[in-house]
Amino acid sequence: MFAEELYNKLRSVQNGTVLCQYSMENCERLVKLINEINELKKEKNTAILAHSYVAPEITFGVADYSGDSYQLSKNAMETSAQTIIFAAVEFMGETAKILNPNKRVLIPGANPGCSLAESITGEQIKKMKEQYPEHTFVCYINTTADVKAACDVCVTSSNVVKIVSKIPNDKIVFLPDKLMGENLKNELEKMGIKKELALHTGTCYVHEQYDPDLVKYFRIQNEGLQIVSHPECHPGVAMLSDFVGSTGQMLDYIRKLPEEHPILLLTECGLNARLQSELPNRRFIGSCSLCKYMKSNSLENILQTLKEPDKAKEVKLDATVLAAAKRCIDNMFAYCE
Ligand code: 13P
Ligand code: SF4
Repeated sequence: MFAEELYNKLRSVQNGTVLCQYSMENCERLVKLINEINELKKEKNTAILAHSYVAPEITFGVADYSGDSYQLSKNAMETSAQTIIFAAVEFMGETAKILNPNKRVLIPGANPGCSLAESITGEQIKKMKEQYPEHTFVCYINTTADVKAACDVCVTSSNVVKIVSKIPNDKIVFLPDKLMGENLKNELEKMGIKKELALHTGTCYVHEQYDPDLVKYFRIQNEGLQIVSHPECHPGVAMLSDFVGSTGQMLDYIRKLPEEHPILLLTECGLNARLQSELPNRRFIGSCSLCKYMKSNSLENILQTLKEPDKAKEVKLDATVLAAAKRCIDNMFAYCE
C-alpha cells in the first residue's frame, strides 16, 4: 500500500476531534506499519478481524474481515488461518475462541473491556436463576464467556428482536443491557408479541450518552434529516430514529439512502469514519462518541502481537465454560437459520 492510497481513503474522515483527522504525513507514518503487518500476517498464517469501531487505519489498512459482532463471529469460523488477531474487545475475542477452540486467538488492545460485559458475572446469573426459575435467559453477545455459559441463548444487536420473538417461552430474562432491553420491549409490543421481560441494569457508556432532547434539536434544525442509531441507545433516541440496527445494518441502510439526506449517525466514531471514507459526498452532521476500549487497539499493538505475542493477550478459556458458552451461541445460530 502507498501513503497516497491510504490518504485518499481517510482524507474525508473528520468526526470526533482533530485527533481523528488524517494528513498525508500521518498516512506516510501509518502505511509503514500497515505494510509491515500485512507482510508478517501472511508469513505467520494469521487473519486479522476488526470491529467497525476500531481506528480506520486498522479497518482499511490491515483487516481481513471487518463488520458487526454477528458477522465477525461467522468470519471467525470461516478463516483457514491458524491464528486470529481480533482488533476489538475481549468478549469478541472470547466468542472467536469458543467457535474455534483449536485456533490461537489474540487480542492486541491495551484495554479491551466493555462497560456492558463488565456489568454482570456468571455467578450473578446463577443467583438470578433462583429468582426466575421459569424464565429463558437471553444474553447479549456483549458478555463474558462465564455469563454465556450460564445462559440459554445468545443474541446480537442484529438479531435480538427476531430471536426473542421466536422463543416459545413468554418469560424472558434479557441481560445485561437495560436500554436495549427497553427497546426490545417496544419492538415486541409494536409486533403485537406479549412477553414478560425481566431486565438487568447494564448500559453501554458510549451509547447512553445520546440525549433525546438533543436529537430532537437536530431534527428541527436539519430538513430531510435521517437519524440512524444503535439499539444500545436510550429508547427516547430509538423512537426518534428513522432506523435502528447493528453496526452492519446501519452501514447497509446508509449506503442505500438517497444522497440528498443529511445523516445523524448515533454510534461510535469508527462507524462514522468508515462511512465518511466510503461516501465522501454525504453530509454527516453532529458528533459521534469514542469507545476507549475499542480505541485501545492500534497498528502498533497489532504489529507487536504479530511479532512477539504476549501470553496475556491470548484468550484462554476453561473447557467446561467453553462448551457451555458454545451451546448458548449455537442456539443463536439455530434461531437465525
Ligand atoms: P454490533 O454488534 O452492532 O457491532 O455492536 C457491538 C457493540 O459493541 C456496540 O456497542
Ligand atoms: Fe462495549 Fe459500548 Fe464499547 Fe460497544 S461501544 S464495546 S458496548 S463499551
